[in-house]
Amino acid sequence: MRSHEQTVQTLFNPRAEDYRHSSVHAAGPDLDHARELLRQRGARAARALDLGCGAGHLSFALAPHVEHLIALDPSPGMLEAVLRGAAERGLSQVQTCAASAESIPFPDGNFELVCTRYSAHHWSHLEAAVREISRVLAPGGHALVIDALAPPDPLVDTHFQAMELLRDASHVRDRSVREWRALLSAVGLAEVQYRQWPVRIEFASWVARMRTPELHVAAIRSLQAAAPREVHAALGIEADGSFTLQTGLFWLVKP
Ligand SMILES: C[S@@+](CC[C@H](N)C(=O)[O-])C[C@H]1O[C@@H](n2cnc3c(N)ncnc32)[C@H](O)[C@@H]1O
Repeated sequence: MRSHEQTVQTLFNPRAEDYRHSSVHAAGPDLDHARELLRQRGARAARALDLGCGAGHLSFALAPHVEHLIALDPSPGMLEAVLRGAAERGLSQVQTCAASAESIPFPDGNFELVCTRYSAHHWSHLEAAVREISRVLAPGGHALVIDALAPPDPLVDTHFQAMELLRDASHVRDRSVREWRALLSAVGLAEVQYRQWPVRIEFASWVARMRTPELHVAAIRSLQAAAPREVHAALGIEADGSFTLQTGLFWLVKP
């Protein structure tokens, strides 16, 4: 029986190329907005950290606005992809670090910017990771948190999280906007801005990216077929299983 950490590595290590080419990850209004926030921030941050960097799409978007950026991920395959991608783009300020968000191997107040995108729903100890984000941020530093959101309606939420887990054994939990706000304010991070966008998830590429076993693909289809109309309406479930989730972006400051 594997630990959650082993499941994460087993699933993500060989998937760097899939995530590098994933249209959901390579582009999006959240990435454009993240670039804009950094532009508006003005002075280049001296040191930035990207938690759960995956194939590096957020790191590459933010790197031109910072002096040094550490792309952190527990999966060595992802970190190798980030170094290749950074070299291709001439982003010499990008370095990598093999670690988990729950235990960040840097001293207190080390970063002026800590960000994360589409990773926190894999973290088994989110409260600990959020404490770590606050710890490694310098006073006056900014945090940028982007992730898929749990639907506010419990009926829809239960169906959504079940689809996520069947598709990807490393899924822990998508959090609602309300849960995120409670977690972030509990560690003293003050919300400056919040934005939310719908993201259409194309079913075939969604399950292909994670090599979801056929048995689980069938279970997701069965779950969708049996789901009540409230769930179909809220998730915009289409005939081929594609659906629409909400992505939330929190821009915060450590006072
Ligand atoms: C969907 S990918 C990230 C996408 C990427 N941030 C982007 O913008 O394209 C999720 C990543 O989270 C990483 N991950 C899983 N558990 C983690 C943890 N506890 N701490 C940090 N990263 C984690 C996985 O290894 C994987 O590379």
